Amino acid sequence: MIIAIDGPSGAGKSTVAKAVATKLGFNCLDTGAMYRSVAWYALEHGISLDDASSLGDIAANRPISFGHCEGDPVPRRVFIDGEEVTDVIRTADVDRSVSTVSAHPCVREALLEQQRRIASEGNYVIEGRDIGTVVFPNAELKVFLTASNEERARRRVLQNEQRGVGSVDFEEVLADILRRDELDSSRQNAPLVAAEDALLLDSTGRDIADVIEEICERGARAC
Ligand code: C5P
Repeated sequence: MIIAIDGPSGAGKSTVAKAVATKLGFNCLDTGAMYRSVAWYALEHGISLDDASSLGDIAANRPISFGHCEGDPVPRRVFIDGEEVTDVIRTADVDRSVSTVSAHPCVREALLEQQRRIASEGNYVIEGRDIGTVVFPNAELKVFLTASNEERARRRVLQNEQRGVGSVDFEEVLADILRRDELDSSRQNAPLVAAEDALLLDSTGRDIADVIEEICERGARAC
């Protein structure tokens, strides 16, 4: 069974996806971390963000994997080509670059293949931008999670503070998520858009535990 959770940056997808997966005993997959890993690899190796062929080559040939911290059921550790990138994929540099990288069709094709392969291994909660529309259009439950721009920026600042990585300047973070929303929504290939049959949830001002509960109930019904 697949539960797809799509939506813009900072809507709470990661928190919600991980909590729903833990409650339902599902695996979870953060597809944003995969795009971030490709972007980080490109920056690290001096590859231009316009070089579609080299970026596609990274996505196809530098395997991305996930790992657990001891005692944690959620796979929060991220690796590309065997190197751990859990923290470095959250820097402001990667924030600025990732939407350019993810707009290249060859990058998307290669990662889509990996995402489908990973999720063929069992029940998954998968978070991203195009999971319910493109990667798993037959997902048993599709959620499109949003929140106001200001709330999303506030949450992202808090998350960056807790992680100790990324910008903690509200205006800078707000500008970045608005810019990424625009790029992600306007690209030709697999844009950020709600699937027609998605449950639309606005988490603005809502207790996140409530949102998690609602998705778990729907998920249990869809089983
Ligand atoms: O979710 P997160 O903010 O980590 O995603 C980073 C970026 O990866 C997004 O802004 C988007 O450009 C890209 N992405 C995507 N498709 C997905 C997941 C993420 O294009 N399924």
